[in-house]
Amino acid sequence: MTTKTASPFTPSDKVNAFNFRAFADACRDALGEGGRGPDAIVQLVTDAIADLGALKAGLPELTEDETLLHMCDRVTIFAIRLTPGLLYPPHNHFMPVVIGLYGGAETNITYDEVDETLVSTGKKHLKAPAVHRLPEPAIHAVVNEGQDYSEALHVYCGNLANTNRNVWDLERQKKLTFTEERYFGLSQQLSA
Ligand SMILES: [Fe+2]
Repeated sequence: MTTKTASPFTPSDKVNAFNFRAFADACRDALGEGGRGPDAIVQLVTDAIADLGALKAGLPELTEDETLLHMCDRVTIFAIRLTPGLLYPPHNHFMPVVIGLYGGAETNITYDEVDETLVSTGKKHLKAPAVHRLPEPAIHAVVNEGQDYSEALHVYCGNLANTNRNVWDLERQKKLTFTEERYFGLSQQLSA
């Protein structure tokens, strides 16, 4: 379980391929001054996953759980491939998040922090194709309850790398500083 950085990556030259560079620029513009904000991101992601063939032709092949496609001061875009049956631990982002699931299934479990304890507030099952904006402020865990790897664009409305955030050890009810190592280390394989 690792993160791969696909930067710089060269999108396909195929005529009908999804133009990732234009998509990233449009996301960046939407989150700048005078932009329509996260609502516009929902629309952009909806449009992006509408043509699955074009989207896949315009994205690198996903070989890791997380592939960083773009990060700048306003937006971070990952392609996320969740392993079936793996429960990734609760974490926060401190920014709006839009998920565009274009393959497989992804379940988001949301939490509230009450007196330093995490309390589950709900589950949202997504089946591709689906676009979902996380409720805010979001603490969520994700799991792929399907049989195959999931495939999704995750658009974070800010610079994720420059954001101090948290990951939780649910068993010990411990709130920790987010690191990738902890995030993957706290992931648990669910029994079949
Ligand atoms: Fe997340």
